Amino acid sequence: MNRLDALNAEAMKGGGDARIAKQHEAGKLTARERIDLLVDPGTFVEFDRLVTHRCTDFGMAEQRFLGDGVVTGYGMVDGRKVFVFAQDFTVFGGSLSGAYARKICKVMDLAMKVGAPLIGLNDSGGARIQEGVESLGGYADIFLRNTLASGVIPQISAIMGPCAGGAVYSPAITDFILMVEGTSYMFITGPEVIKAVTHEEVTKEDLGGASAHSTKSGVCHLTSPDDKACIAQVRALLSFLPANNQEDPPFKATTDSPTREVLELDTMIPTESNRPYDVKSVIAAVVDDGSLFEIAEAFAANIVIGFARVGGRVVGIVANQPQVLAGVLDIDASTKAARFVRFCDCFNIPIVTLVDVPGFLPGTQQEYGGIITHGAKLLFAFAEATVPKITVILRKAYGGAYDVMASKHLRSDINLAFPTAEIAVMGADGAVNIVLRGEIASAADPRKAREQYVADYKQKFANPYKAAELGFIDEVIYPRQLRARLHQSLEILRDKRDRNPPKKHSNIPL
Ligand code: HXC
Repeated sequence: MNRLDALNAEAMKGGGDARIAKQHEAGKLTARERIDLLVDPGTFVEFDRLVTHRCTDFGMAEQRFLGDGVVTGYGMVDGRKVFVFAQDFTVFGGSLSGAYARKICKVMDLAMKVGAPLIGLNDSGGARIQEGVESLGGYADIFLRNTLASGVIPQISAIMGPCAGGAVYSPAITDFILMVEGTSYMFITGPEVIKAVTHEEVTKEDLGGASAHSTKSGVCHLTSPDDKACIAQVRALLSFLPANNQEDPPFKATTDSPTREVLELDTMIPTESNRPYDVKSVIAAVVDDGSLFEIAEAFAANIVIGFARVGGRVVGIVANQPQVLAGVLDIDASTKAARFVRFCDCFNIPIVTLVDVPGFLPGTQQEYGGIITHGAKLLFAFAEATVPKITVILRKAYGGAYDVMASKHLRSDINLAFPTAEIAVMGADGAVNIVLRGEIASAADPRKAREQYVADYKQKFANPYKAAELGFIDEVIYPRQLRARLHQSLEILRDKRDRNPPKKHSNIPL
């Protein structure tokens, strides 16, 4: 075998057959197997296959593996270029050395220059203990690049094994985090440290597994049962995203008529304002082929976010979910939706907001938790966004939540409402109790008087017509017209240009 073939063959073996077998036994694929699934067949081109670490402490001079624990390079996903790094757990537990960090930085720099997404497949024991501060420096070099790339190219992190300590902060800065159930975990401090410091006992899985982060913390946006499914999700996610912030998201022709009437929508939303329904049925009824790529489904389920297409064009959908907590806005729902709105705005993805919201969730937990600041994030994100914004009030839009949910006042371009919309400061019962308390008390029959006042209030305010009169709603439409109107709105807004005042950056209420 010539020298190059021998070196390539050695590099392909990573940490060796025994460690590869151990990786498979753990239910995980190797870094190279993962890349093969991620990119179109035969398109992967590797960089730095022959790089090794330079550490000589702890007997490391005798332990060198070609590639040093991370596979980096570029390839195609559905014919579109992506840059990728895949941490190789079979080499020093995928731990990060200085040389390893430089490999990652090299593909990050190129991804930025070329304007192509960066995909990180994470499976690592963290900082290479033998290298000490050189490794820490390497992490920070990556964090800086993640930060500078934010909003320029999409960055996606799949967590497919351990990701602990400060190492979590690279994925945390990226746009989307996917986790594999059962084999991946993320935490700042592990179970042993927690036990020593707080005496709390918790397993790795309960602390930082896919379930914990997709339901409790909201850190993880998508979960899947195994490596293969996780990588399929990365590919699916990429199909909605432009390569960079200068491009539009990919158009996909559809056979689903963009102007089709959606007759079933006319009866889908209950007229009683407190009857729950699944807003995902509304979304499925209007988007191309009924297909929503939902993000963070299990976290703050009182708001639904995700990507879909209408007439082939990608949209980001934000929808209150009346089926969960009556669709109320709380801290988690606000931060979840705000982050998504900002992502869409970064990457030229029009935002469709479907409103059915009774208001903000009351309570000390929410107030002490900072709902003022967190709710403001959503308002801020909608206000700041300059992409096409289309808002549809399906039913309730009460109080501050009316303003926040991409109202006309926040520069939404096209605001529609169904005839069932109720747009007011508050519901009829609450309003009458406050403003007509005296009149009710002094009436001959207070109960009857109250009923009459409530009916009057509903007639006057619990409808879309006052808002339409003021021009806050551009058009009241029948539900069946929604798909056609969304399509027409996206067409008319296609070349929309808007900008914010010149500034270094805004100061979103973090
Ligand atoms: C060097 C490491 C390593 C590390 C694992 N290995 N982690 N080598 N530095 N951080 C090596 C092991 O020595 C072993 O080598 C191989 O990887 C596989 O590890 P095992 O322990 O056999 O695997 P497993 O039982 O699956 O356990 C995986 C693990 C555990 C949970 C990740 O290895 C572990 O706890 N590692 C240490 C984690 C850690 O404390 N990292 C530093 C965190 S601080 P052989 O030769 O036997 O195959 C940090 C700061 C980042 O990361 C700061 C950023 C700002």
